[in-house]
Amino acid sequence: MLLIRNATLPDGRTGVDVFAEEGRIVATGPGLPEPEGVEVVDARGWLLSPPFVDAHFHMDSTLSHGLPRVNRSGTLLEGIALWGELKPQLTQQALVERALQYCDWAVARGLLAIRSHVDVCDDRLLAVEALLHVKRLVRPYLDPQLVAFPQDGLLRSPRALVNLRRALDMGVDVVGGIPHFERTMADGAESVRLLCELAVDRGLMVDMHCDESDDPHSRHVETLALHAQRLGLQGRVTGSHLTSMHSMDNYYVSKLVPLMAEAGLGVVANPLINITLQGRHDTYPKRRGLTRVPELMAAGLTVAFGHDCVLDPWYPLGSADMLEVAAMGLHVAQMTSQDAMRACFDAVTVNAARLLALDGYGLEPGCRADFVLLQARSPVEAIRLRAQRLLVVRAGQVVASAPAATSTLHLSGRPPTVDFTHRG
Ligand code: FE2
Repeated sequence: MLLIRNATLPDGRTGVDVFAEEGRIVATGPGLPEPEGVEVVDARGWLLSPPFVDAHFHMDSTLSHGLPRVNRSGTLLEGIALWGELKPQLTQQALVERALQYCDWAVARGLLAIRSHVDVCDDRLLAVEALLHVKRLVRPYLDPQLVAFPQDGLLRSPRALVNLRRALDMGVDVVGGIPHFERTMADGAESVRLLCELAVDRGLMVDMHCDESDDPHSRHVETLALHAQRLGLQGRVTGSHLTSMHSMDNYYVSKLVPLMAEAGLGVVANPLINITLQGRHDTYPKRRGLTRVPELMAAGLTVAFGHDCVLDPWYPLGSADMLEVAAMGLHVAQMTSQDAMRACFDAVTVNAARLLALDGYGLEPGCRADFVLLQARSPVEAIRLRAQRLLVVRAGQVVASAPAATSTLHLSGRPPTVDFTHRG
C-alpha cells in the first residue's frame, strides 16, 4: 500500500492524495484516510503525473554511437548505411546489455513505456531475439512494445517480408514499414498496402516510418490513410515522422489532413531527430523538418512525440528524458501558448499512451499505480526545468528516486539555496 499526500495533478488540481493497493490506484481526493501499515509519501505540492511514454524509439541501436564510426554527414541515409556496417558485428549479448542500460536510464527518468522499432532485415534476427529477451527481463518495471521494422525496405531488401513475418511469429507486437526508402514511390505505396493487410490478418497495430524526408512529393501518408480507412483500421495505424508534410504545398495539406483525421491515423513526431536530420540538403534558409504538429492536433488527430534515437548512428546525444523531447517539440513547432505547451506535455504522456493502446494508463481509480513525482508545479514548469524525477512508482512500488535539484548560493544577503521553480 502506498499513499501519496498533497500532490498537484497535470489538470491543475492541488492538494490531492493518491492511494494505491495491489498495483492499482484505489482512490484519489483530498484528505484520504491512512490505513494501518501504509507507506506515506508527502508530495509537498509537487506535480504527480502518469509516467512518460515514448511513442517511437530504436532500442536495438541505442548506445552504439561511434560503432564502427560516427555519422559524418549527419543525414538519415548515412545513418542507415552506418547501421548496415554495424549489423554484421552485432552480438546478442551487446544488444541486451545496451538495451538494459537504456531501460535503467528510462526508469530513472520516469519513462515506463517505450514503443521500440526493431530491425528485421537481418536473417539471424539477432536484434529481435535480444529485444524480446529484454522485454521479458524488464516487464516488472517497464513496458516495451516492439515494432517489426524493415529498415532496408520491405520490397527493396529481398528477405525483409519473410523476416518480418518471422519476427511477428516470435512475438513482436506491431507491424512497421519504411515506404520512403523503397526504390520507387510505387513500391512505397505497395509496401504500405502489403503491411496494412498483414496487420489485418494478424490483428495487429501498424506504426510505420513514413515520409521521413524533405521531399514535398513524398506522400505515402496519403496511402497509409487510404488503407487504414479501407481496411477499418481507424485508431490502430500510426504514421511516424511525416517530415515531408513540413515541405508540402499548403493546398495539398488542406486536403490531406482531413483524410488523415477521417482514417483515425495517429501521428508521431520526433523533434530532436527531425530538427537535426532534416534540412541537411538546404543551404539557407534551412527547413525545420518537423511535421505540422499544432495543425494536426487542431484537426483532432492524436499526436505524440518520440525520442527516436539516443547515442546511435543517427543522434549523438540524449538521455531518455522525454521532457527534453517535449521542450524541443515546443520550440520547433513554436507552441508557446499555455494550451500549446500543455499539449506538448500530453504528447509525451497521455497521447503517446493512447497510440500504444496502454491498458490502465492514468491517475484515476482503477488505473495502474504507475506515476512519477516531478519537482515542478505544473506540466509547463516540468518542461521548462526538465524537472527532477523525485520519485518513480511502478505498480505501487517505488522503483527510482532522486533528491530535489537545488544549488547552494554563496551570496551575502541572499537565500542560501535556489531551485529554479517559480510560484508566479
Ligand atoms: Fe525511427
